[in-house]
Amino acid sequence: MAKNIAIIGAQFGDEGKGKIIDVLSEKADVVARFNGGNNAGHTLVVNNKKTILHIIPSGILHKGKINIIGNGTVIDPVVLQKEIKDLESAGVKVDSKNLIISQNAHVILPGNISEDKKTGGKIGTTGRGIGPAYAAKANRTGLRVIDYINNNKEHAHFLKQFVKDTSLLINDFLDDNKKILFEGAQATLLDLDHGTYPFVTSSNATAGAICTGLGIGPKRIDKVIGIVKAYITRVGEGILPTELEGEEGDNLRNKGKEFGSTTGRPRRVGWFDALIAKYSARINGFDSVIITKLDVLSGLDKLKICTGYKHNDKIIKNFTTDLKILENCEPIYEEVDGWKEDISKIENYNDLPDNAKKYLKRLEELSGVKISIVSVGPGREQTIILRKEDLF
Ligand code: IMP
Repeated sequence: MAKNIAIIGAQFGDEGKGKIIDVLSEKADVVARFNGGNNAGHTLVVNNKKTILHIIPSGILHKGKINIIGNGTVIDPVVLQKEIKDLESAGVKVDSKNLIISQNAHVILPGNISEDKKTGGKIGTTGRGIGPAYAAKANRTGLRVIDYINNNKEHAHFLKQFVKDTSLLINDFLDDNKKILFEGAQATLLDLDHGTYPFVTSSNATAGAICTGLGIGPKRIDKVIGIVKAYITRVGEGILPTELEGEEGDNLRNKGKEFGSTTGRPRRVGWFDALIAKYSARINGFDSVIITKLDVLSGLDKLKICTGYKHNDKIIKNFTTDLKILENCEPIYEEVDGWKEDISKIENYNDLPDNAKKYLKRLEELSGVKISIVSVGPGREQTIILRKEDLF
């Protein structure tokens, strides 16, 4: 059994972190976000009702959980206030007991948003002011939450009640053996250092950022679990080596409802890329991975898995951040048989069709990490657990 668990996106975001965090929060005491801002969109479906959270941790929908927004995040006070009001009108109580915001987080100001809208086009940013807010932080011209709430304007005044020294708090929780879930936003391939720069977000989205983004030591993280879709998607610009174009791509996008939860943009879709999965496992040191949206692949005759890239005459087996290589390589695929059955109501691994099990086994072998959960639909109950030892 794990004491605390980190959930990290292993591809380009939108892997289904919101749902998984929601499922795991049931047994957690604390859910903490350590990076990003309202560029994230974590979709949760509870009792057939869809809720999309952008900045508030996904544990908010469970009564009695403490949700922390750490110092590594950037916060738009207007968006935060609206998200809280929307939750309250949906019957979810949000107060200073279940939501705590770091005094050292930085504030996204209106000027950051207009700058992002003006300059973020070539990267395909979400236009939420994320890059300019982090740039101001690095440039030492940013505004911390603690400094922002010294003015008494409406949003600052509202924010004030939630603000604390969250590093002190979270270390106390760890000392008290509370179960903590570290909720990653964005993903490994969008990480500022390890992603496909410059087509990345402006924060570190990998496991290393948990320490800096919350103010805890590395030895306090117990299990690091990656989330991977059974195929791959990407929103915005940048390389996607296994991208499916035309009808094949449209079919998968529609079947998987692959439209951005923050911006509504159609997501680009492609086959599972084992090089990316293996790379993410290395960067983050995954103990296991969670495979999501396996149900979306039901009904396809054949599935393809990318096992290498061909570049000029060379075969590449390890993912590279050299965009010149990525832009000019051709994926090498292994083809496996698909399955026809609807798997969205299956509760046990053994009841999955043989070809679905074979597909999962192959993903494990190629990415070098065991699978701990398989998700077969958006609902909490559509979750098949394989490795209890990695979970709460
Ligand atoms: P930014 O984070 O708004 O600066 O956008 C930078 C890149 O990251 C763009 O390609 C966005 O589409 C992508 N991005 C940012 N947040 C998310 C997310 O939560 N899911 C998927 N893509 C994201």
